[in-house]
Amino acid sequence: MPHAIPDVRAGDVAVPVIGLGTWQLRDGSAQALVEQALELGYRHIDTAQIYGNEQDVGAALAATGVSRSEIFVTTKVWIDRFAEGDLQRSVDESLRKLRVPQVDLLLLHWPKPQPALAVTMAALNNVYDRGLTRAIGLSNFPSAVMARAAAASEAPIATNQVEYHPYLSQKTLIAKARAAGTAITAWSPLAQGKVADDPVLTEIGQAHGKTAGQVTLRWQVQQGVITIPRTRSPARLAENFDIFDFALSDAEMARIFALARPDGRLGDMLDKAFSWDVD
Ligand SMILES: NC(=O)c1ccc[n+]([C@@H]2O[C@H](COP(=O)([O-])OP(=O)(O)OC[C@H]3O[C@@H](n4cnc5c(N)ncnc54)[C@H](OP(=O)(O)O)[C@@H]3O)[C@@H](O)[C@H]2O)c1
Repeated sequence: MPHAIPDVRAGDVAVPVIGLGTWQLRDGSAQALVEQALELGYRHIDTAQIYGNEQDVGAALAATGVSRSEIFVTTKVWIDRFAEGDLQRSVDESLRKLRVPQVDLLLLHWPKPQPALAVTMAALNNVYDRGLTRAIGLSNFPSAVMARAAAASEAPIATNQVEYHPYLSQKTLIAKARAAGTAITAWSPLAQGKVADDPVLTEIGQAHGKTAGQVTLRWQVQQGVITIPRTRSPARLAENFDIFDFALSDAEMARIFALARPDGRLGDMLDKAFSWDVD
């Protein structure tokens, strides 16, 4: 029996705390993996225009026996489509590829100086008002620009999807998002697989009969952070989902928080001036 997945409140919507990330699954493999994930009990899928696999995710949504209303689908608008009109066309394309009339969450993929944020937020609110998405949000927005986006938006900012794993603290951004009612979604939650070799995470896992990856994902969901690990392996799909039958103690959580380091960032930066909030 699949576990019931806890939800995280994000603006006006409830988001399943774990989802399947699909970055780099662009060789047709996303369809089978999404179908397998849904069979295992996953109810949240994360894609993006730029991932080049929305059509494969759409094929999985069409083929699965799980009803559309039970699946939380997120996609993202790439930065070259942020102008009025372009953004709406990007969303129309995403919906066509995904074979759905509406997604659950639509994110701006990265902040960008031009066009003005107010223009892009107005276009994002336009697709929200037209019912093309149940919620809107951001990705890779440090707190200052997140606050500007929220101020320019009628609709609540449901989430900010950011790099977050044991080696990157993000405590300032997480606190500010929480205070604003915006959930945090962790991208590269497994530090792109690096957590598997970590001695502290491995040791904590041994005490619970779990792997370092499972400990990491548990640490995120226990904070109320939404997490979207990606794998090509059916065995790891099941492993990553099997995190709801144990809990980390306060001392274990603290040991994991202590793994953060100043050079822990992994993400490619599109903009040399980009920097996360300083912790
Ligand atoms: N918004 C953004 O700008 C942004 C940026 C990056 C990512 N994302 C989203 O976040 C998702 C996840 O991030 P990610 O794909 O960068 O990395 P990730 O989920 O942190 O790590 C994926 C890597 O870890 C391995 N792995 C998976 N489960 C494992 C486990 N239990 N133990 C050990 N290794 C494991 C996978 O290899 P195998 O395939 O061999 O299992 C893969 O190489 C993406 O797919 C995407 O949806 C968003």
